[in-house]
Amino acid sequence: MSLSHVSSGKVRDVYDLGDDTLLMITSDRISAFDVVMAEPIPDKGRVLTAITAFWLDRLDSVVPNHLVGLDPPATAIEELGADLVGRTMVVRKAQMLPIEGIVRGYLSGSAWAEYRTSGTMHGERLPTGLRQSDQLPEPVFTPSTKATVGHDLNISVEEAGALVGPEVIKAAQEISVDAYRRGAEWAAERGIIIADTKFELGFIDGELAICDEVLTPDSSRFWPADEWRPGSAPPSFDKQPLRDWLEATGWDKTPPPPALPADVVDATRARYVAAYERLSGANLTEWPGVVQ
Ligand SMILES: Nc1ncnc2c1ncn2[C@@H]1O[C@H](COP(=O)(O)OP(=O)(O)O)[C@@H](O)[C@H]1O
Ligand SMILES: [Mg+2]
Repeated sequence: MSLSHVSSGKVRDVYDLGDDTLLMITSDRISAFDVVMAEPIPDKGRVLTAITAFWLDRLDSVVPNHLVGLDPPATAIEELGADLVGRTMVVRKAQMLPIEGIVRGYLSGSAWAEYRTSGTMHGERLPTGLRQSDQLPEPVFTPSTKATVGHDLNISVEEAGALVGPEVIKAAQEISVDAYRRGAEWAAERGIIIADTKFELGFIDGELAICDEVLTPDSSRFWPADEWRPGSAPPSFDKQPLRDWLEATGWDKTPPPPALPADVVDATRARYVAAYERLSGANLTEWPGVVQ
């Protein structure tokens, strides 16, 4: 069998296994300020895979998902090499919704920018007097379009309903908010605030399921709980050493990015590993393919 390549995004390479399943390979690529760095972060793809697998296992009884298994087919290892081990998911092919199911528990990023100018979030009015990074009274489902070029557009639930149908958006909202609530509560008990996150949902056998990566530092804002100060932007649990170093170089944030020194790569790797180990209580050295 020869693998058929479907797509390569910023982080994942997707192959069609030909039997209604896909092979998703999570690379060690990392982006900052929307630019992919030249140097990989060793094991980052394994950490993202491990975190997704951890959450899908915890959420399994509550929400349908796309995961079939973690072991790559032997033919894939033959074709692509043993570095595949620990960074693959075999998933059911889904009919993806053309929206991102964002859930926000805290006021940050583009939502904070909108609130500061208009008092709204994705067009919906919020209480007055909220500060940057404040916790919202309730987690809010704030979908966005999936832009093929340029940036995703924040839209209201009604606008998302016009795209996919009001019943579908209601189901997507329920699944997303439920998964976020459970994940954020679990993480908070372990010192990590999941400020917001992005789910990708799709239909499998006529049922709406969680696809893609789930509640990872790449699809979410992870903050160290002990450094959260409303009124300012908390450091990123995972990318702060990288962002700080990049800022300090005076780089203009257009490609090519500067070459990362080994200590920045190491510090970033350590943050990703810590996120997995704190959330799961497991040791990354026990994960397939991890050598150090
Ligand atoms: N079960 C699935 N079926 C079909 N497509 C999926 C499934 N799970 C995830 N995807 C898609 O696979 C791609 C993953 O690649 P990724 O590198 O994360 O892309 P991006 O840079 O767009 O985030 C995304 O386009 C995502 O929507
Ligand atoms: Mg993605």
